[in-house]
Amino acid sequence: QWPKYVQLKEVGPRDGLQNEKRWIPTADKVAWINKLSDSGVKEIEYSSFVHPKWIPALSDAREVGRQIKRNPDVFYSALVPNLKGLQHALETGIDGASVFMSASETHNRKNINKSIADTFPVLGQVVHEAKQANKRVTGYVSTVFYCPFEGKITPEQVVRVCEKLFEYGADEISLGDTIGSAVPSQVEQLLEAILSRFPEDKIIMHFHNTRGMAIANIMRSLQYGVSRFDSSVGGLGGCPYAPGAAGNVATNDVLYLLHGLGIDTGIQENKIQEAAFFIQDKLKKELPSKSLAYAVSG
Ligand code: HMG
Ligand code: MG
Repeated sequence: QWPKYVQLKEVGPRDGLQNEKRWIPTADKVAWINKLSDSGVKEIEYSSFVHPKWIPALSDAREVGRQIKRNPDVFYSALVPNLKGLQHALETGIDGASVFMSASETHNRKNINKSIADTFPVLGQVVHEAKQANKRVTGYVSTVFYCPFEGKITPEQVVRVCEKLFEYGADEISLGDTIGSAVPSQVEQLLEAILSRFPEDKIIMHFHNTRGMAIANIMRSLQYGVSRFDSSVGGLGGCPYAPGAAGNVATNDVLYLLHGLGIDTGIQENKIQEAAFFIQDKLKKELPSKSLAYAVSG
């Protein structure tokens, strides 16, 4: 009943670092991403071409993108909010562009300084230009279950944003539980609405683990036939413009689950552990991953 293969996108270098107060020097970011590139992971979101004042931790996106050693088996994407970000990303080198907006009006304004209505034409243009440049485009939709400012978000609000992004030409959509509030019954409700309209291979689930529900929610998504997830080494992560947003579900924990279920990912758990210990050391704090706590460094 489980998919035979699950594809994970490693978002640690983007979602993982964007919320960290401690500056990680470019050379360390590059060394870390090179380790991740060597783990068997097929896709890495390596940084974010947003305004540096909004996300200072990733203000070296261009240097990082230029200095990483690109593994031909890995797909390298980056977050872009607008045409300026896309231009910088294209100059630096990306295989794919990730655009983003929120299903909640207030979170959208707090995060990208625009209403939902004003964001649509901006992203429409970005998707168009990225497709002209032959790049795959992922559309992130944030706060798909719950918004820290507005409360409950309905599946219809999410579907409306997905429809627009697909209409503009996005290749796939990543649905973000930005503040990690969902329980499996809500995942069911949302996936019923989403998968009745869009093909399951174009849907990615992006769970944050604020309340420890991410693994349960991944299980429920797998039962719905979803086989693509975003995760972050060690459980780093969070959106600085969403109060209460803790880390992404930890890649280490997801691998423990999937490999235990007999699902292939192509990723070597020991290499992900090494990468987790590496960045934990640089950040000088313990990462939240549960399975990492039982792994032996070395
Ligand atoms: P704004 O201030 O409204 O931008 O910010 P603007 O278009 O009015 O331009 C103002 C100035 O910024 C101009 O410079 C632009 O050139 C410059 P000036 O003329 O004043 O010198 N500018 C830029 N500079 C560098 N790179 C750019 C760029 N764009 C404009 N790309 C903006 C709007 C979207 C830029 C800003 O709000 C922003 O950068 N927001 C990013 C917020 C963010 O990164 N949040 C976290 C990521 S989303 C997330 O984590 C959720 C996710 O993980 C899924 C989930 O968990 O739900 C994806
Ligand atoms: Mg996120």
